[in-house]
Parts: sequence; structure tokens; C-alpha cells
Amino acid sequence: MENQVILVTGANGQIGTVLVQELRKVYGKDNVIASDINPSDLDGPFELLDITEPDNILSVIRQYRVTQIYHLAALLSSKGEVKPHLTWRINLSAYLDILELARQENIGRIFFPSTIGIYGPTTPKIDTPQHTSFEPKTVYGITKWTGELWGQYYKDRYGLDIRSIRYPGVISYQSIPEGGTTDYAVEMFFDAKLHGHYTCYLSAETRLPMIYMPDVISATLQLMDAPASDISLAMGYNIAGFSITPSELSEAITEHLPLFSIDYKPDERQKIADSWSDSIDDSRARKDWNWSPNYDLAAMTKDMLDNIDI
Ligand code: SER
Repeated sequence: MENQVILVTGANGQIGTVLVQELRKVYGKDNVIASDINPSDLDGPFELLDITEPDNILSVIRQYRVTQIYHLAALLSSKGEVKPHLTWRINLSAYLDILELARQENIGRIFFPSTIGIYGPTTPKIDTPQHTSFEPKTVYGITKWTGELWGQYYKDRYGLDIRSIRYPGVISYQSIPEGGTTDYAVEMFFDAKLHGHYTCYLSAETRLPMIYMPDVISATLQLMDAPASDISLAMGYNIAGFSITPSELSEAITEHLPLFSIDYKPDERQKIADSWSDSIDDSRARKDWNWSPNYDLAAMTKDMLDNIDI
């Protein structure tokens, strides 16, 4: 995978911030073009890019002779309910523009982040299979599910090499995510360190699939690096880290910070969380590209607390 020039959209987001640095270690700083609608102070090539302007995307692709695109720009589940039309434009219309540009400009490989948000009330909640019923209840879920379908369409019709993962809720210390439903987990760590207390917007027993950032990075790089012959899906691969409730996470934190306390005030995000799965069957990713996570709840908790420096 040498001589690649990679464009990352949404590079200032929770995953982009970390992924850009890791891609630069592999491909070289100057071969990874970070882009976002907001400025960045990271060292390395950066383009201010409004993802809803395809002409601007095209000029960046041509200027740098881009060979791969990671389309991370997105609004997440909770914010998506506040701004449904903008969410459609960013998450889906912009992705369609990118697929079309990729076809015209012969881009070799595309990464599309999907999510547990594509699951809905008719999806089996325990060990959610790779192929099952998808009737998402959020705009975010609708955009990501439709994006997966478009990816498969572009692969089947035009032969584009499209790769995608359905990320569980992502836990990381490098930034505090916003606009999602699983973000409570990151907030809990920061509030535990800062205030010794956290008020959780989900109920104590809400079980959701989560994953720690180092596993997100290794899954993404592993999938993007795998030989095309190993990849049997252009749609999102299910991957699982660990499934936890807010109460289990608070107990894990209390083992390190015995004075930590938590209370619960569920808000409108509870309904979103209730429509998602408890746990995921990721056997297809394990089989196709040898996926397996390194972090469980205990290992993640220790590493988060060691790294949050307040
Ligand atoms: N982290 C996302 C959210 O909560 C789910 O993929 O919206």
C-alpha cells in the first residue's frame, strides 16, 4: 500500500483526530490530507473543506492526486434529530458526490464509516447478525444505512473498492465527542476526573455495544489494508468490542476512583439508545480480515483514566 495519497473528510471529529495521525505514521505525513469545515492546528497538509460543495472536493482530489478517501464527515444520532436535512446533506448527499467523484477520478479505495445506528426496533438485539432487518428510527441511522446500500451499488455497478465498518459507540480520551447517543461513556470519564460525579442522560441498565479507540484504528487500517479478494462485503462489517451499561461503566471507574458517584436523568437520547442493539455478532469480519479486539471494559477503563490528564 505504498504511494497512496489519502484524503480524510471530517478530520477534526472524534475518529478523524486520531486516525489522521495513525495514517500519517503508515503513509507519511505529506500523503495524508486532512480536511474539515473547521480549521485545525495539527501539523501536516490540511484543507478547509465544506463537504456539501462537490466542486471543492474535486479540486482537492486533483490538487493532491488523491488515491483513497476516508469520508468521516458526519452529524451523529442526537444532533441529527435536531438538524435532519443538514444531516442528510452531510452524511448522504456528500457521500454520493464522493462516490461519483471517485468513479470519475479513478479513486482506488473508499472508506465509509457506518454504525450501530442503522439497527432499529425490528433488528434482533442480542448478537445482531451481519444480515438482518434494518429499520433505523433516527435520521442518522437512515443516512448511514442508505450510504451502505449506495456503496454496494457503486461496487456492483462500477467496481469501486468500497469498505465500511459499523462502529459501535467509540470511547476515546483524545477529544470529547458531541452529538451522539453513546457519548455518555466519554463524558463519564471526564466528569469522573474533573468533578468526581456524573449525571448520565441514559438509564443505568441501558446496554450498548462500545469499542475503544485503539481497536477502532486497528480495525479500520486492517480492513483498508486487506487484499480485495478477502473482502466479501462493500456494506458495513459488524464489529464488536464490549457491551456495557452506564452502571457497569461507573463500577469499573469506581474501582480506580472510589469516591466517584453517578446519578441518572434520562433524556430524549434514551429513546434512541433503546432502538439499538445490546450486542453484535462480528464473525464475518473475524473470518474475512481477521478482526479481533484487544480491549475489554477493564483494560479500556484503566487506559482511559491513565491518559485523561486534567
Ligand atoms: N456514536 C454514535 C452515536 O451515538 C453511534 O454510532 O450517535
